[in-house]
Amino acid sequence: MCNKVTIILSHPNLDNSFINKHLADINRKNDKILVHHLDKIAPNGYFDLETEKRILRESTAVVWQFPVYWYNCPASLRLWQDQVLSPIVYGDDNFLKGKPVAVVFTAGATEEHYRHEGLNRFTAEEMLVPFKMTANACGMVWHRPLGIYGCGPDMGAGALGDAESDYARLIEEL
Ligand SMILES: Cc1cc2nc3c(=O)[nH]c(=O)nc-3n(C[C@H](O)[C@H](O)[C@H](O)COP(=O)(O)O)c2cc1C
Repeated sequence: MCNKVTIILSHPNLDNSFINKHLADINRKNDKILVHHLDKIAPNGYFDLETEKRILRESTAVVWQFPVYWYNCPASLRLWQDQVLSPIVYGDDNFLKGKPVAVVFTAGATEEHYRHEGLNRFTAEEMLVPFKMTANACGMVWHRPLGIYGCGPDMGAGALGDAESDYARLIEEL
């Protein structure tokens, strides 16, 4: 089977998540999407390289989805990058070359906070530079990221609906 998109989801506590769980539940209903929750499949932090390779090989595009934790992704995605990307990219068959990749991140802060004059002093685009550089090193095609801001259990129905439709649009573009 060839998935259109594999969502590499990094979240250490998905049962208590609001927005990432909500979006993952929606995307799981689409049989063209594989939601691959890293913290569930490797709770000990060690990935099965052959399984990860097979999933990536069968994907036409990849999404790295995560809640922003300290202006970065949670640990499971960093571990996955170290263990899975390195052997592929530095091996003799980099099948990631040419595959589109997009970041979908959720942030507790508002979009205004991610401005030079805002509380965080740096933009989301600047925060995502290591991901963009990683995509570049893998030979992957960087797709514009989707940021969902002001995330929390009190998110209104309007913001939730916007996040759902923005995500659906991004998946279509990949
Ligand atoms: C350990 C930790 C660190 C966080 N760091 C940030 C941060 O650097 N910037 C930010 O905007 N939100 C930060 N947040 C808020 C989360 O991004 C927010 O709670 C999450 O996106 C909500 O998604 P969820 O409902 O799926 O858990 C942090 C939350 C936690 C628990």
